Amino acid sequence: MVSRVIPVDPFDLVIFGGTGDLARRKILPGLFRRHCAGQMPETAQVIGAARSDMDSAAYRQMVRDAIHEFDGERPDDCPDLAGFLERLHYVAVDAQGEGGWQELKDLLRKNTVKAFYFSVAPSLFGDIAERLKNKGLARRDARIVLEKPFGRDLDSAKALNKTLATYFHEDQIYRIDHYLGKETVQNLMAVRFGNMLFEPLWNSQYVDHIQITVAETVGVGGRGGYYDKSGAMRDMVQNHLMQLLCLIAMEPPSRFEPDAVRDEKLKVIRALEPVQTQDIVRGQYAADGDQPSYRDDAEDPRSTTECFVAMKCHISNWRWAGTPFYLRTGKRLKERTSEIAVVFKETPHSIFDADAGRHRNILIIHLQPKEGMELGVTIKEPGPGGMRLVDVPLDMSFSDALGPDAEDVPDAYERLIMDVIRGNQTLFMRGDEVEAAWAWTDPIIEGWEERGEVPKLYDAGSTGPEDALMLMHRDGRKWREIRS
Ligand code: BG6
Repeated sequence: MVSRVIPVDPFDLVIFGGTGDLARRKILPGLFRRHCAGQMPETAQVIGAARSDMDSAAYRQMVRDAIHEFDGERPDDCPDLAGFLERLHYVAVDAQGEGGWQELKDLLRKNTVKAFYFSVAPSLFGDIAERLKNKGLARRDARIVLEKPFGRDLDSAKALNKTLATYFHEDQIYRIDHYLGKETVQNLMAVRFGNMLFEPLWNSQYVDHIQITVAETVGVGGRGGYYDKSGAMRDMVQNHLMQLLCLIAMEPPSRFEPDAVRDEKLKVIRALEPVQTQDIVRGQYAADGDQPSYRDDAEDPRSTTECFVAMKCHISNWRWAGTPFYLRTGKRLKERTSEIAVVFKETPHSIFDADAGRHRNILIIHLQPKEGMELGVTIKEPGPGGMRLVDVPLDMSFSDALGPDAEDVPDAYERLIMDVIRGNQTLFMRGDEVEAAWAWTDPIIEGWEERGEVPKLYDAGSTGPEDALMLMHRDGRKWREIRS
């Protein structure tokens, strides 16, 4: 199978924070891969803008090093690193002052599509947006790309949206949730809405419960300062897990178009019930030998921020009334794995003897590290000995099914940046979605803050605190194993 690459329109992309970690780790190596794939038109250019004083030659050298450091194998597949570096320019810009804006403007004369990537602290979003407008750079068709966090609660998110709306229209604002750029996340929509097989069963009549797990092996060392002010609820649940929940639970949009999809996601968020205190478990990893504990990493011996959270949620609508959604995410867990499991109900009546056992179908959507789907079906155990039932997986790894090209899918950032250039907002969060997600999250956080709750300790390399297991056990259910 040969993947198709559809070239985009000629563009100028400015990366504010062009020397920062995200730019070096993800954005620039991603753009390089799109260059290698032949997706960049000849005149497309990328302009790094940051505070440091350097010229374009020094910037190109920095990007060359970053590509070697963060994109291990690929540079050898694509010999044209020099060609990519020629597209790069650098301007020292003062986000809060006057310096550099005229030089930036002078560089932006080439291409029709103009995109400005705010890869900077959110406190600078307003300053940059204002200057883009005042310097005449924010034409009606210009696009701005923003990274989370979009506020830390409903009030700050509203304030941010209001500031941005002073200078830009909503159809110019691209709020990135990189989970939406993951291949399997989009496959979720293809599977749900491109097949007749699943949709009739996709409701509380047939689905017992849904589990969403995003487990990481890394701790928060290195970014403990930032993380400790955020925690798993703000860092992961309010955005990434919420988006997965929306895609799994939403009604079919009338078309695969930005507002049609985002309207349906918004309805899911608005239908989420408040979470009961007993339905949330928070945790922090303990020290492990010479490995630091969460509190060591956060450099606060009394931190009560969670780096693990598990919860049971309900969606109050016709489709999902009575089907719980269990979410969990955490750092320093057993394996790095993200998956969604749709666990179907048992058959209403078993025609087999009691010792054949009761079985359930499970559809598992693997997001990472390996992408694919697995459907557990019940069959007769082969051989003599009567009708004994056994569950076997119908396993479809995308790379097995589609060949090696399926492994070579663009990374989330590559895909999302190309969607910005194409002007397609389907995989970006709309302002009202972000606000609705905070409106649901805020009372949960306020609740545990008011109760002065301390997260439970869990062993590094485990599946999280015992209480998270109990969350399901007491409903007669079980989390799936965390394994990659
Ligand atoms: C980021 C969070 O948004 O997502 C990080 O801030 C987290 O804490 C990361 O580690 C996980 O992303 P991925 O793509 O590695 O699953």
